Amino acid sequence: MQNTLDKLNELKIQVQNCKKCSLCEKRNNIVFSDGCENAPIMFIGEAPGKNEDETGIPFIGRAGQLLRKFLFEVGYKQEDFYIANTIKCRPPENRKPTKEEKNACFEYLKAQIELVNPKVIVLVGSTALESFIFDKKLTITKARGQVFEIDNRKFVPIFHPSYLLRYHSMDEGSPRYLFKKDLELIKGFI
Ligand code: URA
Repeated sequence: MQNTLDKLNELKIQVQNCKKCSLCEKRNNIVFSDGCENAPIMFIGEAPGKNEDETGIPFIGRAGQLLRKFLFEVGYKQEDFYIANTIKCRPPENRKPTKEEKNACFEYLKAQIELVNPKVIVLVGSTALESFIFDKKLTITKARGQVFEIDNRKFVPIFHPSYLLRYHSMDEGSPRYLFKKDLELIKGFI
């Protein structure tokens, strides 16, 4: 019988062969996931950037390193999390993914969620937020740190770490302070 890892590897091969949208033409690598296939927490970011496209690993560039630094500081272990994105291929010039690209890729993300079956899904930034919570008035600034229960699973939006690259303060109420607080809240669920 196939275990979760085998099934995820099979899905990854499917994505490597995917030609459902034009992003496949320019990709160097698909960016499928990082982390543990049995993790209780799944982070979903926006889309791969240059470093991710080169390595095939999500959140490995500057923003990703910042996210990982905060995870380490808050005490997350490698086995606590699995990381993916709303789409698997890099959009040109790091533009936001289009609705068509997100729709084309959603079946893969949905399959990852079903296989990993995390307790908590962390929506990293506004693109991930908009993919799961359909309330146009809900900006990431309003939504971050709130807990949404959907189909018996918790969804928690947080700021995208690329936003934090512009703000260095850890003062109470600052973006970095709130980011850390949200990661602490999420860790408390496992
Ligand atoms: N930003 C994202 O949203 N995802 C990545 O994998 C890298 C940067």
